[in-house]
Amino acid sequence: MRRFVVIGQRATASADFSLLDVPGTAGRLDLLLRFLRAALLVSHGLRRDTQVYLALYGGPEAPRALRFDGATARFVRPDERSLATLVQKSLAAAPRAPRGAGFVEVRPGVFRAEDGLEAVLADLGPGETYALEEGAPDLRAATLDLANPVFFVGDAQGFAPEVRARIAALGARPLGAGPVSLHAEDAVTVVVNELDRRAASR
Ligand SMILES: C[S@@+](CC[C@H](N)C(=O)[O-])C[C@H]1O[C@@H](n2cnc3c(N)ncnc32)[C@H](O)[C@@H]1O
Repeated sequence: MRRFVVIGQRATASADFSLLDVPGTAGRLDLLLRFLRAALLVSHGLRRDTQVYLALYGGPEAPRALRFDGATARFVRPDERSLATLVQKSLAAAPRAPRGAGFVEVRPGVFRAEDGLEAVLADLGPGETYALEEGAPDLRAATLDLANPVFFVGDAQGFAPEVRARIAALGARPLGAGPVSLHAEDAVTVVVNELDRRAASR
């Protein structure tokens, strides 16, 4: 299973944003929606071997987290408006589990936790962890866990210091995705492509 975790420092954890202006009303949740599409979707389908976590730290209901399971998710369409609608419905769905209860399915293949990174860390299975960081050793030259890799990715502000420290304490290995500072969705595209290539050449 491939797992990707993007941490939105301002991305809203509340459903009360406008679908007509996601960037302006949802703390740049649009970045995370494009990340979700890049990590989970292929042409005409979903990656069944992939889970994507969105850790949401914006707004009064934060922190919360969503998990999308490629094996079981339905109604995940590639356009940003549809993805925003799915996230909005997933954030609004009842019932609300207590904090610390872990991920609860709120839509087919979409799970929600009433906590942020800590809920994600408790949910991750075994596997090597990696932190995508500008200037880190290039992933193309790195040995990678192809079976159960976990990748952490920052948002437009990168990682908050406490998040970077938490991920480092896990033993996550910093990896670079090339010499240029990319948007999170482009960085994850580079990673996914590298994993695809290695899997195909095994
Ligand atoms: C827009 S970048 C963040 C830029 C921010 N100014 C910073 O200092 O981190 C969003 C995220 O994509 C990933 N990323 C972007 N470019 C990368 C690169 N060349 N190598 C590895 N990760 C990258 C990192 O996880 C980063 O936190």
